[in-house]
Amino acid sequence: MTDPSPAQSLTVVLATYNEQGSVGAMADSLRELLSPHYRLEILVVDDDSPDGTAEAVRQLSREDPRVHLILRVGRHGLSSAIREGLLAASGEVAVVMDADGQHEPAAVQQAVQRLLASDADLVVGSRFHPQAQLTGLSAARRQGSERANRLARLTLPAYSHLTDYMSGFLALRPGRCGWAIRQVDVAGFKFLYELLAVSKGRLTVEEIPLRFQPRVSGDSKLDNAIVWDWLVSIVHTATLRLVPRRAVSFALVGLSGTLVHLTIYLVLRDAGLAFLPTQVVAVVTAASSNYLINNALTFRMGRLRGRRLALGLAKFLLVSSLGMAANVGVSTVVFARLHDGPLAIVALLAGILVDFVWKYAASSRFVWNVPY
Ligand code: GDD
Ligand code: MN
Repeated sequence: MTDPSPAQSLTVVLATYNEQGSVGAMADSLRELLSPHYRLEILVVDDDSPDGTAEAVRQLSREDPRVHLILRVGRHGLSSAIREGLLAASGEVAVVMDADGQHEPAAVQQAVQRLLASDADLVVGSRFHPQAQLTGLSAARRQGSERANRLARLTLPAYSHLTDYMSGFLALRPGRCGWAIRQVDVAGFKFLYELLAVSKGRLTVEEIPLRFQPRVSGDSKLDNAIVWDWLVSIVHTATLRLVPRRAVSFALVGLSGTLVHLTIYLVLRDAGLAFLPTQVVAVVTAASSNYLINNALTFRMGRLRGRRLALGLAKFLLVSSLGMAANVGVSTVVFARLHDGPLAIVALLAGILVDFVWKYAASSRFVWNVPY
C-alpha cells in the first residue's frame, strides 16, 4: 500500500445536532491524527443546535483555519447535512463520520488509504464486517440494524457484496461521486443507502471493518420518524423510484388507514350498530388517522400544530371526500365499459388510483402547502 503524500487534501465532514459535548474533542483528535498526513479541512454542518454546538465550532474555526462551520437554520436532518458538507468539501478525498465519538478517528486513515490504493469511488466503514467491533450498539439496536440491512440488500442487488448499507462512516472522492451526491434528496439518516440506490451500481464500493464505540456524551437522534423514513426509502427503491418519495410515504399511511377503517367497522358492527353510521364513523376516523400520521411523518418538515392542525383536518376531510367521490365516479365509468366479470377489479383499481393521486396532490398543496 502506498503512503499518501502530505499534499493529499482531505475533508472530514461532521454533521452535528446537539453535540456541544463531543465536537471539540472530535476535532482535536482528527487534527492531531490526520494533520501530519493530509492537507486537512474539517467541515461541521450544524442544524442550529439549541445546545450551542455552532458557537463552539465557530470558536474553533477562529483559532484554526482548517475548521469550517456551515450553519443551517431549522432542522433539515442528517442526510441533507452530509450532502451539503460533501458538496462544499474542498478535499480530493472526503470522509463522512459521526461527530459523537462513536466512529473512531483512526478509521479515517484506514479508509482513505484503502480508497487511494484500490481506486474505488467509495469506501464504507462497516459495523457488520466480520472483523468489526460493536461495543456501541445495544443488542436491540444491533438486531434491528441487521434486519434492516438484510432488507436493504434485497433492494440493492448491484451492491450485494456489502455488509452495512446504513453506516454513517464513508470515504469517497467527491469529484467522482458528485453526480450521485447531488441526487440524494431525503429526510432522515440514510445517506449511504440513498447514495447507493441512486447510483445503481455505477460506483465501485469497498468496505473496511469499523469499531463502533459507545457515545461520549449526549443522546442518539435516531427516532421513530427516522425509522419511518428508512422504510419509505426501501419501498421507494423496491418500486423502482417511479413516484416521489413523499407519495410512497403517503401511500403507506393510506394503507394503515385501510386497516383502521376495517377494525372500526368490525368493532362497531359487532357492537350492533347499523351499517350506515358504522361506515360513517369508520371513514371519518380512518381519514383523521391518515391526516395525523401524515402530519407527523410524511409532512413533518412543515408540520401543523395548534389551531392550524384543526383547520388542516377540516381541509383534509374535504379533500378526502372529493377523492372518494372521484373514486366512485371513475370506477363506475370504467365498470360500465368492462361489463361484469373478472376484469371488474380493474374498475376498482382505477377508482383507487384517481382517489390516491387527487388526495396526494391536493393535500400536499392545500393542507401542507408544499409542492408535490
Ligand atoms: N446536522 C445534523 N442534523 N446532524 C444530525 C442530525 C440532524 O438532524 N441528526 C443527527 N445528526 C448527527 C449527530 O449529531 C451525530 O454526529 C451523527 O449525526 C449521528 O447521529 P446519532 O444520533 O449519534 O446516530 P446514531 O448513533 O443513533 O446512529 C448511528 O447508526 C446509524 C445507522 O443505524 C450513526 O452511525 C448513523 O450515522 C447511522 O446512520
Ligand atoms: Mn451516534
